[in-house]
Amino acid sequence: MPWQDQGRAGFGTLNLSEHFPGDIVQTAVQERLIRPARNILGSLRLPGDKSISHRYAMLGAFAEGVSRLTNFSTGADCTSTLACMGALGAKVNRSGADSVEITGVAGRVGPGADSRDWTLDCGNSGSTMRMISGLLAPQEGRFTLIGDDSLSRRPMERIRKPLEAMGARLTLTDGHAPLTIDGGPLKAIDYTTPVPSAQVKSSILLAGLQTEGTTTVREAIRTRDHSELALRAFGARVARTADAVSIAGPQQLHAIDAVIPGDLSSAAFFLCAAILFPGSNLVIDALGLNPTRATLLDVLTALGAHIAVVNLEEQHAELVGTVQISAPAEGLGSTAVEGPLAAQLIDELPVLAAIAPYTSGGIRIRGARELRVKESDRIALVAKNLRTMGAEVEEFEDGLDVPGGQTLHGATIDAGGDHRIAMAFSVAALRAEGDTLIQGAESASISFPEFFDLLDRVAER
Ligand code: S3P
Repeated sequence: MPWQDQGRAGFGTLNLSEHFPGDIVQTAVQERLIRPARNILGSLRLPGDKSISHRYAMLGAFAEGVSRLTNFSTGADCTSTLACMGALGAKVNRSGADSVEITGVAGRVGPGADSRDWTLDCGNSGSTMRMISGLLAPQEGRFTLIGDDSLSRRPMERIRKPLEAMGARLTLTDGHAPLTIDGGPLKAIDYTTPVPSAQVKSSILLAGLQTEGTTTVREAIRTRDHSELALRAFGARVARTADAVSIAGPQQLHAIDAVIPGDLSSAAFFLCAAILFPGSNLVIDALGLNPTRATLLDVLTALGAHIAVVNLEEQHAELVGTVQISAPAEGLGSTAVEGPLAAQLIDELPVLAAIAPYTSGGIRIRGARELRVKESDRIALVAKNLRTMGAEVEEFEDGLDVPGGQTLHGATIDAGGDHRIAMAFSVAALRAEGDTLIQGAESASISFPEFFDLLDRVAER
């Protein structure tokens, strides 16, 4: 019997405590076998956008009234945000996997709490840690934010600087979490972000929301604007120009009912899978198509994909629609992602790089230094795993050159605890020769627990 049929197909759970009796080991490492596919066909509706879910959870928890959110992200990251908001005094009621009712604290966390000293666990989620810092910095109390090993390696200086410029007191551990905020009233600032980061921009805006005067954030490269749109949806006034966002505080937020659009960064894995197979046809409904997030569709079109977008509508100013995609009969061309494009596509770059060997002319990625400080060093891990599958790839400080016209072979992939690496190489595995074993497949549930089931649903074998 081939090894892949011997109980390893599907999730295999390797319980480390059986291997190291006596040690306390809490992580169950899971592996997933990915067999090559013949085609991608079908239609999908995806769990709610992770970025929007974080923001609606934070703003709903901070607003006055009861917010009802449906199609809320099922990923562990957004569960971390909900848990933090619950610990801060919001009433969080989750019914089913994707419906959440949040009774907000009306602008003040933990009134009536015995202690004014909170420890909040942000898990693996950089968005939670960075955005909550801005939300909490103007609040009375001491807040200690902790995270897992990966999050504790990620740079937090980028939020300390602007929040301290507003007068907040933040103590980091060597530039990282754990971080402690001694909150209190702040002053408005006009700040230009040195790195393109929606999380940093959002953190400052959330502090500005509660601060007397006008706080402005300027960015050279425009990052995703979900916070600006979400703040408006919850009733705040936010002013925007081409390169700046301003908020005049303090302002009170009001609860909303919302259906969260499907996550385009999760869709990216399926869109990239579909373009690998001439004859493919995939439809994704109710997908978030916010223009600051949808650059992937342009890149896939540049590679030759046929894409149609229909049923466009706005939900709380977020664009939502149905995307239909099929692969070009003549195969994929080539493309380059550089400069501002790299920042806008930051979460989609691992999967684009992973499918690049199957294009005819390859994909060149530059200006993506930020990839090195995500949940893993994504440049290094993508290069390593592409090589493991037999590909040629050149690594740069801020990107990768992946030549086209290559054949990959099945291999054992190290996801490095990074959800987007696990999913990117599951997609690359669909066109490889032989089977691929993804080690650390459980990390997909950080953003997209349903990923492997949905992949099985649309992959024809
Ligand atoms: C996010 C912003 C991006 C992105 C992350 C989510 C957000 O991070 O990579 O997955 O929701 O604002 P940066 O702000 O660090 O670029």
